[in-house]
Amino acid sequence: IKRITTHILQEMKQRGEKIAMLTAYDYSMATILDDAGLDVLLVGDSASNVMAGHETTLPITLDQMIYHAQGVVRGASRAFVVVDLPFGSYQGNSKEALNSAIRIMKESGAHGVKLEGGVEVVESIQRIITAGIPVMGHLGLTPQSIYKFGTYTVRAKDEEEANKLKTDIIALQDAGCFAVVLEKIPAKLAKEVTASVSIPTIGIGAGPNCDGQVLVVNDMIGLTKGFKPRFLRQYVNLYDGILSAAQAYIKDVKAKDFPNEKEQY
Ligand code: KIV
Ligand code: NA
Repeated sequence: IKRITTHILQEMKQRGEKIAMLTAYDYSMATILDDAGLDVLLVGDSASNVMAGHETTLPITLDQMIYHAQGVVRGASRAFVVVDLPFGSYQGNSKEALNSAIRIMKESGAHGVKLEGGVEVVESIQRIITAGIPVMGHLGLTPQSIYKFGTYTVRAKDEEEANKLKTDIIALQDAGCFAVVLEKIPAKLAKEVTASVSIPTIGIGAGPNCDGQVLVVNDMIGLTKGFKPRFLRQYVNLYDGILSAAQAYIKDVKAKDFPNEKEQY
């Protein structure tokens, strides 16, 4: 099967075919999601939350991101694999940003990187792209800045922040980003900025008019119990499925029902 490329994603925007993206953090999940036909797999720094149990995305390291990315790349034969640059690996220092991006590409075999922010990080983005590494932007609610925002609420509701976002997305396009994630912004604003750029926008909590959609896979398959923001559609409840499987296993072990005659050597 042919690998999805940034060029194909660009063509999808042009012909109005929506881009389907989910996060993935390991080999097993990546094989399933790739088999299902996802266009893009994002090794998100949300791994810090859903894989490691941290409250924020800030603690995850570059080495840990690379470890997650290695498994996902081995599991993905068709999807384009993008890896988040973690907090502290690119901000305010374009040389360090380039080194971090190069490490991800070299050590994991991923196809591109993603980083958060607008004009503040344009210099880093340009330097990474100059090295031949595709970059995806990320605007709106940028979780690495959670202590600046103070809450995980919707961003760019006021005119000042909306105007900054409009400026930022043009700056990311001009810097050469191949796509931009728009997280938790009003649907009307997402529609407007999606029409204002030629590169695809991928929304999460940003309404139906983005060029694609992304969700955290653990949320959409119902592994993260009790996390139900409005934008999240849960397609299966694996929490309850795994819980009852584990309970049934415990029962069988205690009752000496497992293993049976056929399950031994
Ligand atoms: O880390 C992540 O999961 C993300 C997506 C929500 C876009 O950045
Ligand atoms: Na992220």
